[in-house]
Amino acid sequence: MNRLATSIDIREWTHRLDSLGRALLNKQITALAWLNGMDELYGSMDLDRLLKSIDFGQMINNSAFDYIEQGRKFTHVQFLPETGEPANMVVETKATKVPKGASILPHAHLNMVSAFLTLSGEFHVRQFDRLHHDENVFHIRQTSDHLSKAGQWNSHSDDKNNVHWLTAMTDDSYLFSTKLEKVDPNQYGASNLWVNLNGKDLSNGVIQAERINYDRAYELYG
Ligand SMILES: [Fe+2]
Repeated sequence: MNRLATSIDIREWTHRLDSLGRALLNKQITALAWLNGMDELYGSMDLDRLLKSIDFGQMINNSAFDYIEQGRKFTHVQFLPETGEPANMVVETKATKVPKGASILPHAHLNMVSAFLTLSGEFHVRQFDRLHHDENVFHIRQTSDHLSKAGQWNSHSDDKNNVHWLTAMTDDSYLFSTKLEKVDPNQYGASNLWVNLNGKDLSNGVIQAERINYDRAYELYG
């Protein structure tokens, strides 16, 4: 997705980010409405303003991303106090760096929504709808194969683009993430179910993809 030409105040932005997550948790909106809301929010924020509001340069100087080289884990993003970030936000805001050529390995989520904003560099993004799953097998259909440059984003829910795989194309590939787990607190949730995309080709572009463990996913796609 691409941003709009407008930009809103960072205080208003962080409050809307929280309100949108709360609306989803309280069942006032659907997951699809959350995705659309994130399109609006990511599209309305000036990237430089966002980078300043999380002191992105300082995060890099403080080696906040160094440990990610092996594990590609996300680190918590704290907005600067003057941005008026709401206390106890229901959504998690995180960021990561992915080394050039490495990937956020293909994975699915259950009972979760997330939206990735490219902060710098470029990612090759591949997304798939999860049409069906049991414990060890997913039926998926590819929905996108595109490059995401700084300021562009992609988002995921149970019903849309659930399986995703991002490969860093440049040395400065950083992602910002907004995530909400346990959208339905009464249902089972899972944040990282690794998927082998090279499965049996069923009809109409549907792939029968096996669930695999992290080590195998890293071997195939790391
Ligand atoms: Fe994910």
